[in-house]
Order: sequence, then C-alpha cells, then structure tokens
Amino acid sequence: MSDSDTWRFVHVTDIHLGSTESYRFNPAFGENWETAAEQIRALAPDLLLVGGDITRDGNLHAYEFDRSRAALDALGIPWHCVPGNMDTGNKHTDRQGARDDRDDLACNVTEAQLQTYRDKIGPTTWSFVHRGVRFSGCYEIIADTTLPSARALDAWLQNLATLPRCAQHVMLNHYPLFTDTPDDPPRDITDPSGYLDWYFSAEPAPRRKLIEAYRSAGVTHVLSGHIHCRRPPLNFEGMNYCFGASTAFAQWKDRWSDGDARLGFQVFTVTPDGIDYRFEPLSHVSTRTDGWGPGGHPKPEARRV
Ligand SMILES: [Fe+2]
Repeated sequence: MSDSDTWRFVHVTDIHLGSTESYRFNPAFGENWETAAEQIRALAPDLLLVGGDITRDGNLHAYEFDRSRAALDALGIPWHCVPGNMDTGNKHTDRQGARDDRDDLACNVTEAQLQTYRDKIGPTTWSFVHRGVRFSGCYEIIADTTLPSARALDAWLQNLATLPRCAQHVMLNHYPLFTDTPDDPPRDITDPSGYLDWYFSAEPAPRRKLIEAYRSAGVTHVLSGHIHCRRPPLNFEGMNYCFGASTAFAQWKDRWSDGDARLGFQVFTVTPDGIDYRFEPLSHVSTRTDGWGPGGHPKPEARRV
C-alpha cells in the first residue's frame, strides 16, 4: 500500500541472527527472521526501522554484522538501524549486579564496540525526513556515561531541536526508557528481584534528559526493543511509547498485564490524520531445537559448547 497520502513503515527489532561460527547459535532465530522478512515484503513498506540486536553476539564477533547486513539488504527495502546491547554492550553499571552468571562490569558498552558497529552498519545517530515524517535514531542508553559517544549524543540531541519540525517525529531506540512510567524510581542492579527492571530500562537522570530532548525536538513516537515483549502503545505527556516485539524469541512474559509475548513486528500506517499502529505476529514460529550454546550474557568460561 502506498498512495499519495497513505503509506507504511515497519518497526522490527531484536532479530538476533547470529552465526554458525559462534560458540552459540540458534537456527530458529534465522528461520523466524525469514518468516518476518516474507511478511514485511508483502506489506511493501516505504522503509524499515531496525531497533537493534541485529546480531546474537556482535559485541564479541564483528563478523556477525555481515550476515545481518546481508539479510536486511536482501529485503530490498530501505532500512535504518540503531545498535542494541548484544551488537555493542550493555547499559553502564559501576558495580556487579545480583546475578552470578554474568559479569555486569565487563558487559558495559565500550567506545570500541560502538565504533565496530559504525564500521559495519553505519552511524549510531541519524535523522531524516520521509514524506513529511521525521525519523531519528540513537543508542540512547549511553546517555550520561563518560563515553565520547555520549558527548556526541548530547550534541546531536541539541541539534535535533533545531531541525525543521514535522507533525510526526518517530524516535528509534533500543532500550525502553522506563518499565512502568517515565517517573520510575532508580533501579538497583544488586537487588535480585529488581535486576531485570535495571537491565531493561534507563535510569531516571538520563531518562529525563532524553525525554526533555525528545520533547524539544517534537518527538511524537518512541520505538524501543530489548525486552522482547510487546506492549500496546503507551501515551505519557503527549508522547507515544511503543515497546516492540522480537522476531527471535520472547522474554519477560509476565512483567505486565498488557504484555504480549508473541513474536512479530510493528506496522505503522501514516495517514493525513496521524500514524496508526498495529502488531503483526509471525505467521509461523520456528520449532527448530538444533541450536547450541547458552543464552543470556555468559561469562568467558561459559562461551563454549
Ligand atoms: Fe535482544
């Protein structure tokens, strides 16, 4: 569908393709991607927003980006991507968390990882206008860190507010800015019952800074991934927050009463009146079980089959 004033864009995230060269691989994720790709092609969107985690372990294996890039290029649809934490590294912490199966400090995203992403995929901040809608993307979770890229993010956000305004402005992120509301309290990585709340969202200071910057830039929609559990769009203070589904596998199914653990992607239809949202579940979910290796963020000694 695409006529003079009604057209679509698609948001897909956490496709986690991975590689058979890795210490871990799950062919079901690739099969699910192929299903999603077929469905996306049939929709013929103008463009595709890819919300990060295009690799399984791009933070360890730069070669994984090549397969992901080829898979996205094969769609034949213009695509625009932001990094995810498995492509680069995690939200920063200054202390070890409650889980002894991972080394949280070693998972902190580094400048070198961000540079590898840039070398392999492209910029980590971008903004453009397509048919009267502004689209922007950034790896928001680095805000307020000491990374040089965080200073570049600040400058980019400042500049964003000076760009020509559009009635609709879609911001692509990887992490959700919050788990419950924009007023979520600080999360404690050392609290076993709060670890996932820490892991899956931004902390109050960078969150507030990002929201204020987005507001100054006229952002109307904030699209995120990372949690692998879709939620119907939430509206807070005039901004729509869309927590997207993964195409690869589900997580955190029981966190919210409105959580939807189905795999799939988000379809946005732009009309003269605004942007309509719908979720498209995968038409078929892979049942392959012939993968190998552990999940999560294994310590080096666990990165063997
Ligand atoms: Fe992910």
